Order: sequence, then structure tokens, then C-alpha cells
Amino acid sequence: MEQAEIGLIGLGVMGANLALNIAEKGNRIAVFNRTTEKTDEFYAEAGALAERIIPCHTMEEFVAAIRPPRPVIIMIKAGEPVDQQIDALRDQLADNDIIIDAGNANFRDTIRRFEGLKDSGLTFIGMGVSGGEEGARHGPSIMVGGTPESYARVEKVLTSIAAKFDGEPCVAWLGNDGAGHFVKTIHNGIEYADMQMIAEIYGILRDGGHLGSKEIGAVFGEWNKGRLNSYLIEITEKVLNADDPLGDGPMVEMILDKAGQKGTGKWSVIEAQQMGVPATAIEAAVAARVLSSMKDQREKAEAAFGAKSSKVAVDDALKNDLELALFAAKIAAYAQGFAVMAEASSEFSWNLPMPTIAKIWRAGCIIRSQFLDEITSAFTADPDVSNLIMTPAFSQMVKESLPALRRVVALAVTNGLPVPALASALTYFDAYTQSRGTANLIQAQRDFFGAHGFERLDGKASSHGPWGDWKLS
Ligand code: 6PG
Repeated sequence: MEQAEIGLIGLGVMGANLALNIAEKGNRIAVFNRTTEKTDEFYAEAGALAERIIPCHTMEEFVAAIRPPRPVIIMIKAGEPVDQQIDALRDQLADNDIIIDAGNANFRDTIRRFEGLKDSGLTFIGMGVSGGEEGARHGPSIMVGGTPESYARVEKVLTSIAAKFDGEPCVAWLGNDGAGHFVKTIHNGIEYADMQMIAEIYGILRDGGHLGSKEIGAVFGEWNKGRLNSYLIEITEKVLNADDPLGDGPMVEMILDKAGQKGTGKWSVIEAQQMGVPATAIEAAVAARVLSSMKDQREKAEAAFGAKSSKVAVDDALKNDLELALFAAKIAAYAQGFAVMAEASSEFSWNLPMPTIAKIWRAGCIIRSQFLDEITSAFTADPDVSNLIMTPAFSQMVKESLPALRRVVALAVTNGLPVPALASALTYFDAYTQSRGTANLIQAQRDFFGAHGFERLDGKASSHGPWGDWKLS
């Protein structure tokens, strides 16, 4: 029998969809699942694609079914199970075979696994895959980290299954070891910020404007035709328009306001903090999810402090402002995400290609949008720019949209409507564009209580302040 081009372990929702995508694009694939019934079920339901699928019940069968050097995708729950699977594969695979972790792994685990396999003859790829179920089945965005040689072995298959933007495949090798999973983590951090900022605008329209879900859906639908055109805005309209199949109101109004999270957003913030890169909009989004989950406390606090009531007039001018405000805040989140990646690139010696990252996010992934094409152009023209907002195109966009963000945040704040991510984006711009900040006072305080010293503006030798006498009193 003709050998498979690639193997896949783990036929959960994502794994099964990815396997079908691989087969559909003309590649032979061997599949294995710990529970063999799942493998049989998957094979039975594969229809015409079954002819390119080799279902395997044992690891020996599975390994023998793949053309060496064997690329083996593992698509299982992140964490400990991945280490166990790698251990199980170690004994079965041969020199130059490639284990590919396609789950949402922490890139630090990916680096550890990559290092751990270094002397084994095997090699490791950490592969970020974005696009959810639909993306896995019909075309995800794929972020690869590992050796260039191992990527060369899988490039053809990955290119065939990736989403396409104007015919260009949304897959790329981004750097060594953890580069792919790191970029996927930052993708998710930006995803959190995008979603949170959309939810804040929804909050202004719902709680300030007292609009119904469908009316708000129509506003997002309108925006999806303009500068905000993106997958997340598109699904926001759809979600707001859906009716509850078990009741007679909109679905969204029946959903408990506690947001879940699996860790990638938090990791992006931890890494940003660790590297000393301000990613305030992403931080605010992660914190907002945490706060959302504290439903019991929020209920008690509302009872203690009283429910707020606000009345905001929703006219065309406000809608226009909200659209522009969301756009400005989105720029801040992306600028921050790319700044975190730039820092990580030098810290981990990855040499991350910023224009390529923007390029492969243009289709397939959750944050896909027209806007990413503009980021691609901006970084292509100036790949080493210190911050996205300093590129000519984006500084122009910020100048045009910032006044609206300021008005919207002011309106929300005066009406008691929480907008943590929008406000963080606004103050990020304000702080980043202020040449003389207020840290001179902080330096003086640090010196006062801890004799930390400070630099002087006039270039005279670093010194301490004249606080000695007051300290004694
Ligand atoms: C994607 C998504 C996907 C998933 C994340 C985030 O790019 O396809 O980011 O990976 O949605 O796990 O999930 P949480 O919101 O549960 O953290």
C-alpha cells in the first residue's frame, strides 16, 4: 500500500477536522487515536476521503504507514498528555522523524520539548493552528516553529491545507523551537483584546443606548462593510441576530455573562510583563475575563453600591464615533502584540518576520481581517519600525480615529459603563506619545525612600535628591 505523507494522532474535533482537510487536499494520511472505536468511527464517516486515510489501531501499524522521515501531528489536550505522547512516540519513531505538536501549547513547554528531543535523532515542531473547527477543516492559519529542515519536509502538506488570502497560503516557518507557539499565543492575546473591545462597545449600546440585541447586530453588520471588516465583527452580528431555540428572545440575552479562558491570553500578558513590554489593552482584556467570572461578587457589589442607570443617545454621530473608537483601540492592541513579538524575537533569537506574521493572519485565523493586509503593507515597507503606530499609514489612522476614542471613553466613563480595554488603549496612546512623562516624580520618591538615585536632565552626574533633612523629621 502507498505510504501516507503524514500521520496524525488525536481524533478529537480539531484533529479530525485537520485530518479531513489534509486528505481532501490530496494527501495520504495515517490516523491513530488512543480509543480505537474513535478511529473506526472517523474512518466510517470520512466518505470519499476515506480512500486517502489509513486508519491504524496500533502505534506500530501507524508508524509503518508513514513515509520516512515521518511527520506525526499530535493534536491532543495541551500539557502533560503531550509529554506522555512524545514519550510513547520516542521508542517507535526513527532518526529524522518529526513530532509536530499542533495544540495550543505554552511556547516554553515547546522549547523544552524541542531541546529534550535534540539528541534523540528526532526533531520537534511547535505549530500554532488558528481558525477553530471550521478553519481546521477548510483552511486554518498555521504558525510553524522548529528547524527549517523539518519544515521543508511538511511544507507541501501544510501549504495545501492552509487558508489562502488572494491565493497566498497562510502558513509560514517563523523561527526556531517555540517561535510558532509563541506567535500563536500573541495571536490569542490580540484575539482577547479584539473580543473584549467589541463587547465594551456592545455594552455602551445595550446599557447606555438601551438598544436591543438585533438593533446592535445591525450596527455591527453595517461596520462589517467598512474599516472594521473582520471575522470577529461578522460573527458578532450573527450572534446578536440569533434567536434562543429554547425561548422567545435573542440567544445572547440568555447566556451567562461569565467568560471562560484556557490560558493563552494570560500567557501573552505574562510574557509581555516578563519582557517589559506594555501590552495594556491585552492585559485589560484578560483581567476583564477574570472579572466577568466573578459573577457572585459582582452581584453582591451591585446590591451594595446600587445599580447604575445611564442614558446615551444613539444617533449617527455616536455610531460613527463608536466605529472609529473601536478601530483606534484595535490599532493599539495590534501595535502592542507586535511590540511583544519584536522583543521576544530578539530575546529568543528567533528573528520573527513581522510582515510574514501579519500576512498569514490575513485569512484562516480568528483575528483575520482586511486590517491585517494593511499591517502587512506597513511592516513590509518598514520591518524594523519600533511600533506599528509609527508607520506613516498607521500614524495617519491613529490621528484620524483617536479623537473618537477619547470621546467614547469619556462618554462611557461619565455614564458608569465599564470600558477597560478601550480606556487602556487610549491611555497607551496618550502615554506613548508624551515625550515628558511623570516618572520624574516616581524617581524622586524612589530616591527618597530607597536612595535609588536618578538621572538628571541636564546630563550632570547621576545623583540623589536633597531630602536628607526631611527624612529625619
Ligand atoms: C484560534 C483560537 C483557539 C481558541 C483558543 C482560545 O485561534 O483558533 O484562538 O485556539 O479559541 O483556545 O480559547 P479561550 O478563549 O478558551 O482561551
